[in-house]
Amino acid sequence: MENLPERLAASGAIETRIKLGSISGGKVLDIAVGSGDFIDTLMSVLKDYDCFVGIDISRKDLESAKKRFRGQPVKLMEMNAESLEFRDNSFDTVSMAYSLHHLDRIEKVMAEMQRVLKPGGTLIIQEEFYDDEQAEAQKTNILQHAWEAQIDSLLGETHNKTFVKQRIVKIIRSLDLVGVEMFESTHPVECLFCENKFRCDNPKSEEEIERSIREINDNLKRLKKIDDLKIRIRLQRTGEVLRERNRKYGNAHPPVLLAIGRKPPQL
Ligand SMILES: C[S@@+](CC[C@H](N)C(=O)[O-])C[C@H]1O[C@@H](n2cnc3c(N)ncnc32)[C@H](O)[C@@H]1O
Repeated sequence: MENLPERLAASGAIETRIKLGSISGGKVLDIAVGSGDFIDTLMSVLKDYDCFVGIDISRKDLESAKKRFRGQPVKLMEMNAESLEFRDNSFDTVSMAYSLHHLDRIEKVMAEMQRVLKPGGTLIIQEEFYDDEQAEAQKTNILQHAWEAQIDSLLGETHNKTFVKQRIVKIIRSLDLVGVEMFESTHPVECLFCENKFRCDNPKSEEEIERSIREINDNLKRLKKIDDLKIRIRLQRTGEVLRERNRKYGNAHPPVLLAIGRKPPQL
């Protein structure tokens, strides 16, 4: 891919793109589809595909995905990933992005994803992570995410802080897959297609910092819904520290791990 910002070009996202570009998706099921970002990415990178089914437990997120994919071969359904309403072996590809840390019962969802995947079919999981090697701007993002996850949890939504890399690797290794490959990159593959890629590649871009501070301000407003005053004050202070941290160090996407493996063919 020509004309990429420097950090993105060196990020590892191109290797991930090449791998995904070798896969024929067939009938693809995207778990925890949200507003559909990962379907959009797969449409751009897969070698080819027949159609997509996206499921999510949240009706609100599905509504925006429905508008986004109107007229395209994408079916969207409200469903809990812990008990998928599909037959065994019914999809050629099953994917999930940025959702492991949103799940209540990861093992149950992993078992369901494998059950509905055809023998020989492809499983794709993408998740952001942290380890000991993050730059300060990435640490801002990870700390801010942990703060937001704490607010979500207090307001009743399952949301955990960013997982450490080893935890994700352990989950992938526990699956009954063959030919597993893992791709690590400082920028996710979708950055290659993003119209803001030049702006966003600079962790100290004023527009990006302003966007991040707007997110903090929106979350600060949500604190009103938390009854416990002590917790509210603590989270308020953390929000203020995060605003300063954004200004000082900037904010950058944490690294991502994309794992690909196949369900063993039936003998
Ligand atoms: C960060 S969003 C996913 C974003 C999307 N995959 C993307 O790439 O942009 C996490 C999603 O997980 C969904 N979710 C959480 N638990 C779920 C479950 N048990 N079944 C289905 N969806 C679930 C949430 O509703 C939310 O839309």
